[in-house]
Amino acid sequence: MQKNSPVRILAIESSCDETAAAVMIDGENLVSNVVASQMEIHARYGGVYPEVASRQHVLSILPVIKQCLAEAHLSLADMDAIAVTSGPGLAGSLVVGLNAAKGLAIGAGKPLIGVNHLEGHIYSSWVKKPGENRATVAEKAFPHIALLVSGGHTEIILMRDHLEFEKLGSTLDDAAGEAFDKTARLIGLPYPGGPSIQEAALQGDDTSFNFTKARTDKLYDFSFSGLKTAVLREVRNFEKNQVEIPKADLAASFQRSVVETLVQKTILAAEEHHVRSILVAGGVSANQKLRDEFAKHTDWDVFFPEFEFCTDNAAMIGAAGYFRFIKHQYSSLAIDVEPTWSISR
Ligand code: KG4
Ligand code: ZN
Repeated sequence: MQKNSPVRILAIESSCDETAAAVMIDGENLVSNVVASQMEIHARYGGVYPEVASRQHVLSILPVIKQCLAEAHLSLADMDAIAVTSGPGLAGSLVVGLNAAKGLAIGAGKPLIGVNHLEGHIYSSWVKKPGENRATVAEKAFPHIALLVSGGHTEIILMRDHLEFEKLGSTLDDAAGEAFDKTARLIGLPYPGGPSIQEAALQGDDTSFNFTKARTDKLYDFSFSGLKTAVLREVRNFEKNQVEIPKADLAASFQRSVVETLVQKTILAAEEHHVRSILVAGGVSANQKLRDEFAKHTDWDVFFPEFEFCTDNAAMIGAAGYFRFIKHQYSSLAIDVEPTWSISR
């Protein structure tokens, strides 16, 4: 590779229920981005149905990659590497993207880079859309604190440098997104629960219910299952008394409790580790109440991904893949999926 020549990465993501491909340049400039969502299919089951997800990935993966390259007006031969999510996630979903990436890497003679999905979410704050001049975290000095809140994970992570992560705490039971999804189901709101609770909460009073916040032995750990049970208890009471469930008030009070806990713990971690920048990532980072609460803490630069990069996408995998590429962290073609791959090991 010539010095200073742009590094083009084709990135592939299929860890859960989105089949996605993106072309990224130099870890921050998005060229093209395609996401085939299976949300409508899984909504029928009230959650992701792994067998169905895997089958859908098989059907979508090649058309998505082809469309992504076509929209970029580039071919496989123009790429410097193929980055792919190799974990964590659903094994039957991961394997589809990983095998497609291996095939392309072998066929085109390009390096293969296995990327951790959680690391990808954190790098979503680096992604800039074509023509976008937004200030990103790329200009800020390390360390950063990252709050990763998705359907499967809730973690506070100290990012000391590129690809250097230390997990400070995580959830002991439900992930934040999972808590939104399960609570939505309890109060009769549609899947996925995050967006439907956010919408219902707009009409509600968030002080109607004062749900107690869980205490955890370790400061940066989380626990959301008690909150879910508290909501269930309220729902049962309303049902027993044949009173209509106050969905909006329950949604607003639940959302306030989750958001306050997430923000408080993240700010404490930022203070303790003397960081100035906070990165919020994962599906729940799309939540407006979470964004509004963080905005009150003006002492910190808080970075959120663009809305479309909060939920699963391949642009973030291309950003993380770039930093692995420049460190020559290539993967062997024998690499397998790692459904439980933790971010710091
Ligand atoms: O990151 P993601 O797409 O998938 C995982 O890697 O898990 O996150 C999906 C999660 C779901 O639980 C969904 O309910 C939640 O993100 N989510 C939200 C919002 N949009 C998506 N949660 C709260 N508020 C939102 N606006
Ligand atoms: Zn995700």
